[in-house]
Amino acid sequence: MESKMENSKPLLISLCVICAIVGSSGTESPQFTVVHSESDFEIRLYRESVWMSAYVPEISFEKATREGFHRLYQYVRGANNGSSELEMTAPVLTSTIPVATSVGHYVRFYLPTECQEAPPHPLPELNLQFDKWKRHCVAVRKFSGFATDNNIDQQVEDLLTSVARSQTGNSIVLEDKHGYAIAQYNASFHLSGRLNEVWMGVLSGKGLFQYIEGANLNDSRVSMTLPVLTSIAPEAGPLHSSAYIVQFYLPVKFQGSPPVPLPELNLQPHAWASHCIAVRKFSGFARDSNVVAEAEKLAVSLSRSPWANSTSPDSKYAYSIAQYNSPFRFIGRVNEVWVDIDGLKIAGCSSDDLATF
Ligand SMILES: *[C@@H]1O[C@H](CO)[C@@H](O)[C@H](O)[C@H]1NC(C)=O
Ligand SMILES: *[C@@H]1O[C@H](CO)[C@@H](O)[C@H](O)[C@H]1NC(C)=O
Ligand SMILES: *[C@@H]1O[C@H](CO)[C@@H](O)[C@H](O)[C@H]1NC(C)=O
Ligand SMILES: *[C@@H]1O[C@H](CO)[C@@H](O)[C@H](O)[C@H]1NC(C)=O
Repeated sequence: MESKMENSKPLLISLCVICAIVGSSGTESPQFTVVHSESDFEIRLYRESVWMSAYVPEISFEKATREGFHRLYQYVRGANNGSSELEMTAPVLTSTIPVATSVGHYVRFYLPTECQEAPPHPLPELNLQFDKWKRHCVAVRKFSGFATDNNIDQQVEDLLTSVARSQTGNSIVLEDKHGYAIAQYNASFHLSGRLNEVWMGVLSGKGLFQYIEGANLNDSRVSMTLPVLTSIAPEAGPLHSSAYIVQFYLPVKFQGSPPVPLPELNLQPHAWASHCIAVRKFSGFARDSNVVAEAEKLAVSLSRSPWANSTSPDSKYAYSIAQYNSPFRFIGRVNEVWVDIDGLKIAGCSSDDLATF
């Protein structure tokens, strides 16, 4: 299918026409995977994608969106050199330009999959540009109703606050705290049930997931393992804040020679010596509001046990949280709090043999 599409442009164009007719049943959107999810925001990894973009030198978000969309819509309806009608996609994305010297917005339309490789060219008077996006992460907050000049600032503030408050906040670094985009998914005649999102580019905190997806010198795709382990090292962060270290167990196949991460991901392989941990299970989502309480319960249980004085003094970490379920699973979730135990003090942990207590 792919090779057919590459060497036959006429086929591509007819596909675009067909998708415009079929398109009314389900609107296409750029594909992404959710790499981190919390109650009020999520981090998505978007694939490489091609957008058509209209620059509008207008300070008002609403006016810019209206004008930009008008130009894009003409392109979609056939104002292009193939006179092709394209399928409408969602969202319409309006980005601010985070540079003090120029005022304005970019309004963007995601090109349907069938047209990503060889999109028809817009008529020059529409003054549109192609935008090719690399694979990247965005922090996303959803909101309903109409996105207006009056309410988007609050939505941006709320996203910034949520990211800063998040348990993984230290590892999420936003690209630019003043640059954001508003994604609108519904036509303006829909008065209720509307979906909008604020997007902000994420610089880091995504490295582990990119590594898994193949961002390593050996170009290997690594299959996901469980759990994802977040360790909390008190006062190790800047200004004595806690540092969070997120770890992922390498599949057996890669244990001997892990693929080498791209240097910009700033990841380190970390070999664990055989050691013992105390584990307490809990259900639901692991959140700021409950992990500390769970860690305290584990500490209380331990203090009443024969291992009261066995928590490892060598461990850099106060405790770790192991999460076993994808963010999409809502019931029957399994998480654990882990605390390192000093093996020498406990029979069964002093050697490599396993013991259950
Ligand atoms: C549209 O223009 C582009 C660039 O000039 C060209 O590569 C493409 O073949 C044109 N398509 C049609 C259908 O004329
Ligand atoms: C608005 O768009 C979202 C996302 O595509 C969709 O789930 C929702 O049903 C739409 N709302 C209406 C009223 O069509
Ligand atoms: C992965 O790439 C690194 C750097 O190019 C190389 O030294 C190493 O041998 C490779 N490992 C495997 C398993 O191919
Ligand atoms: C742990 O140490 C404290 C103080 O050194 C001692 O009072 C307590 O009995 C010890 N607990 C156990 C279970 O060894």
